Order: sequence, then C-alpha cells, then structure tokens
Amino acid sequence: MKIMDGKLVSQAVKDDLRKKVQELEASGMKKPHLAAILVGNNGASETYVASKVKSCGEVGFTSTLIRMDAAVSQQDLLKEITTLNDNDDVDGILVQLPLPKHISEQVVIDTISADKDVDGFHPESVGRMVQGLPAFYPATPYGILLMIEHYGIETKGKHAVVIGRSNIVGRPISILLNRNDYPGNCTVTVCHSHTHNLKDICLQADIIVAALGRPEFLKADMVKEGAVVIDVGITRVEDPSKKSGFAIKGDVDFASVAEKCSYITPVPGGVGPMTIAALLMNTYKACLLRNKK
Ligand code: GUN
Repeated sequence: MKIMDGKLVSQAVKDDLRKKVQELEASGMKKPHLAAILVGNNGASETYVASKVKSCGEVGFTSTLIRMDAAVSQQDLLKEITTLNDNDDVDGILVQLPLPKHISEQVVIDTISADKDVDGFHPESVGRMVQGLPAFYPATPYGILLMIEHYGIETKGKHAVVIGRSNIVGRPISILLNRNDYPGNCTVTVCHSHTHNLKDICLQADIIVAALGRPEFLKADMVKEGAVVIDVGITRVEDPSKKSGFAIKGDVDFASVAEKCSYITPVPGGVGPMTIAALLMNTYKACLLRNKK
C-alpha cells in the first residue's frame, strides 16, 4: 500500500508555479491575481480562505481578500463581484461557499465572469468540462486528477466508483474520470443516497472516490484487494483529546481500508492540500488566457 501524499504533491505543484510566475515577471507580464470574497465568519470557511490567500503569497501571486458581513445584501455582494469582473488586474474570483441563506449561491456563481471562474462552478465552465473542452475544473476534482497523474496511476479501462453526486466533487470527478484523456477513460458508476447494493458496487471498483461527507463510512469489507481509494471527506468530529476540541475525519475507515489498497489518500494531508494547488493552477491559467487576448 502506498500513501498518496497531498502535502508533498501540492508542494511540488506550488514549486513549479513559483518558477512559472518568476518567468512571467521576467518576460514583463503581470503576476496572477486572485480575489477571494468571504461572507460572514464560518470557522471552516475562515480556515480555507486564509489557506488560499497564504498559498497565493507562497507562489508569488497577488491576492485580495474581501470580507463582507454575514448580513450583507445579495445586491451588495453582486455589486462587489461586478467590480472585480471589471477590474482588469484581477484574474481569478472566488466566493467562498456556503453563503448565508438569504443569498442565492447560484445567482452569485452565475455573476462571476466565466473567464475569471477559477472555482469552475459557473455553468459555462461546467458545460465546457462536460463537452471535453479546455475549462476551469473545480478545485477538488482537479486536485484528484493532479494526484493520480503524479503517482502515474493507470486509469484507462478501470471501473471507478464515485460515492456522492455534489456539484463540487462527486458529479465533476465522475465526468473527468470518464473523459477521453489521462487521467480518465474509466467506466464510472456514481452512487448516492438512493443507491441499492452500494457494498456490492464498491467491491467491483478499481478506484473508489468517497465524497459523501460521512465520517469513516467506507469500511474494509467494501473494498477490493488492490483498489485505489481517494478520500474526499473532511468532517469535524468532537474529540476532547485534541487541543482544538475536534478531529478531522475522512469518509474512509483508514486503519482497516489502507491494508487492502494499492494507493490511498490520508485525511488530513491527502486531497485537502491538492484543492489549493488546483485553485492556484486555475488562477495561473486564467492569467495566461486573459493576457493573451
Ligand atoms: N466551499 C467548499 N469548497 C469550496 C470551493 O472549492 N470553492 C469555494 N468557493 N467554496 C467552497
């Protein structure tokens, strides 16, 4: 069994990006610029956004963090997005989700300029991805592809089982693993809360992507010997033994499943760090595309 080390792979992606930014600057081009909007003060969102901003600094990107009160009106949030859309120096825009209930996430996503949609959530980005056109892929699925590629894992003709069908992870990774490219060319089964015989389906999988958000859901008796297991779960569970009072649990019962796998991602330190690397890659691509025009 080999651990897919997200910290190591994301660092390699970041080292590569830092060099690319230096090359951009040497050729007289502007540095990539990511603008992030954080509404309210949800603990997990604070952590994610801080990490995204810090990573921008590490690779030499410019970043702008715009904080808005949880009570901000949808209209004022949309106005801020429009200002960023019109700001020529900004290459990528992300609005951290979830948003307060009085704001429509779909309207917000639709308002971000498709050429700055580094989260890959805009319907134009999703449509392009589905059609196999160059597109911004959502960060988590893109991070998974980068990790599979780094470890040179064969995907052609493999049966991939994706557990979960969210717009952010399950659905896009099912599309990407099925595309006619590497990593891809899998036969993909997408399972969800209404799936019958989930265990039997998982036992047929060469690759399992667990993205349902239920701590330690995937047990050893659901995994075929030699399978590749990718754990997207990051649930905070109370743990009095930790200083913070909580522990982060994945969707995979790592201790028992790891023994059966050829490759497995740990939590934390697996897919999580890769999502940031993927976001940075998208921002770099957005900068190149916008400045070529
Ligand atoms: N919330 C959870 N994941 C994400 C993500 O990838 N992007 C944004 N904007 N919000 C999120």
